[in-house]
Amino acid sequence: MRKEIQVGLLGFGTVGSGVAKIMIDHQQDLQHKLGVEVNIKKVLVRNLTKKRETDLPIEVFTDNLDEILNDSSIDLIIEVMGGMNGTKEAIEASLRAGKGVVTANKDVMAVYGPELLRLADANKCDLFYEASVGGGIPLIRTMEDGLASDRISSLTGIVNGTTNFILTKMKQENMSYEEALAQATELGFAEADPSADVDGIDAARKMVILASLAFSTEVQLDDVFVRGMKEIQDGDVELAESFGYTVKMAGHAEKDEEGIAVSVEPVFIPNSHPLASVHNEYNAVYIYGAAVGETMLYGPGAGSLPTATSVTGDVVAACRNLLLGMNGKRSHSPQHERKVKDDDKRFSRYFHRILVKDEVGVLTQLTAIYSRQGASLATVIQHPGKSERDAEVIFITHRMSRQQHLDVLKELEEADAVIDVLSHYRVEGDEK
Ligand code: NAP
Ligand code: HSE
Repeated sequence: MRKEIQVGLLGFGTVGSGVAKIMIDHQQDLQHKLGVEVNIKKVLVRNLTKKRETDLPIEVFTDNLDEILNDSSIDLIIEVMGGMNGTKEAIEASLRAGKGVVTANKDVMAVYGPELLRLADANKCDLFYEASVGGGIPLIRTMEDGLASDRISSLTGIVNGTTNFILTKMKQENMSYEEALAQATELGFAEADPSADVDGIDAARKMVILASLAFSTEVQLDDVFVRGMKEIQDGDVELAESFGYTVKMAGHAEKDEEGIAVSVEPVFIPNSHPLASVHNEYNAVYIYGAAVGETMLYGPGAGSLPTATSVTGDVVAACRNLLLGMNGKRSHSPQHERKVKDDDKRFSRYFHRILVKDEVGVLTQLTAIYSRQGASLATVIQHPGKSERDAEVIFITHRMSRQQHLDVLKELEEADAVIDVLSHYRVEGDEK
């Protein structure tokens, strides 16, 4: 009978140090749940001289990955180094050495997930990645188990803590973008390169992982339409508010007979929608299933201990499988072939903010563009512009295809009366 499971921890930053803290502070709870001790035997770091606040003995730290991979007493590897540089190789080497892997690495899982899961199956090892999406929210397990019997038609989510934190601080505390990003970095929410957060890439990676699970198909990163938060112009947040909306960086994925569509972009969310009330680093994913109807999962999307909770949850699952001899017994083959929807099959409402010359007949010229493209308007508002010679016109459309939206934008940009298309957003929810 086994009395102990030894773990190798790759990385001791925001998440890794949280994992160690939970595994030390909650050791008795883990033992009660598993019937054996679970101990961190070695920790891989880049810089051995860095001062670290931990109860782990100094001797467990190493900068030599092979020392961990070649240690036959280690059954499980936790990869929380992050990034692409050598992490895929470290996961592969662990699996090939017959060690199960728990990772929080969405960069790797979004691109190489299917390949690595097949490698895990082939080596009869577990590969768990709960913390790669939604920090401390058990999203992956809900997709894989809780909603396993349902057919999910769409999901919309705030899946990046950093951008949600920035938008909240800018709106509620009037903080500058730079200051809010600096705070998110200080608190350990932002990626090593925060452009992955603000440009929407981190959220796109998470949407690849979620959509692949939700639709049982291998969604690729290139399938995701991405716009970053730099698209949000001065005044947009206040304008959204005046129409009853909140601006959020949101991911959306949908599937029907035409295929799948996945996007990450700043969107207008009606204030009555639960996602509009998700603030700071919190994340939430709103799911539509044929049987369950509508359901939302909510919780901290980033941060040391919340993320480490998901990682250690995976550790418990992997240890249970080890003790039962059940590891690597899960099939990961997708049910459906990947088919991506064309732009003329993706429908939504849109918000367009346009700077125009303040002249007679301008509005007629603009509305003619929408008519030509078969796009129907729900709201038309004109505001004074910054100078006496210009004005701002706001249109909110009824549902139209993304292709129509793009065609309208192209015509607007070429129209004589238009000085600039200042901003445009997809409008989430509230009209079928
Ligand atoms: P982090 O604070 O930058 O920590 C990275 C750790 O890995 C450091 O201890 C670093 O060593 C070590 N490391 C990096 N490259 C290494 C290498 N080549 N060889 C050896 N050690 C290396 O990162 P983090 O925020 O904990 O994120 C870790 C992972 O979790 C990432 O995949 C991230 O996307 C994911 N994640 C993070 C959060 C969050 O809130 N932070 C939430 C969910 C998921 P040194 O200490 O010596 O520099
Ligand atoms: N940088 C990520 C975020 C960490 O802000 O959501 C959690 O994945």
